[in-house]
Amino acid sequence: MESLYNRLGAEEGITTLVNDVVDLHFANPKIATRFEIAEDVEHSKRMLVEFFCAGSGGPQEYTGRDMLTTHKGMNISEEEYMSAIDDVFSAMDKNNIGEEEKKDVLSILYSLKGDIIRV
Ligand code: HEM
Repeated sequence: MESLYNRLGAEEGITTLVNDVVDLHFANPKIATRFEIAEDVEHSKRMLVEFFCAGSGGPQEYTGRDMLTTHKGMNISEEEYMSAIDDVFSAMDKNNIGEEEKKDVLSILYSLKGDIIRV
């Protein structure tokens, strides 16, 4: 089977997804303030593209901070985490991503929760 990276449309498709996800975060009252006070959103977006490209089987190298270091001290709640994942699903629906790919993305996001929630 094709890598998840290719099934998501490679770097171009993943960049579109990340842009849509971040737009949705800014419009999401449960988590918008988290991103309004973030230091450099353009940098975070670039890091998110790298992270998802590398993590889905693409050739890119992830040059950002690890998930625990990035989110440490933010005290992100379970509800905020779910709300962020809702935005990822809305963005995938908007871009006609298939059911298999959505499941694969969900399982990656779920596996990261221990490094992000309440750290
Ligand atoms: C679902 C899993 C998540 C993943 C894979 C993820 C991934 C990332 C990545 C790759 C970065 C950039 C790292 C860097 O700059 O080196 C980042 C930054 C950030 N994340 Fe997350 N994140 C997740 C969930 C969340 C949640 C739920 C929130 C809050 C509701 C959040 C808030 C932030 C903020 C505010 C920044 C910017 C930090 C700054 O530079 O000031 N993240 N995240």
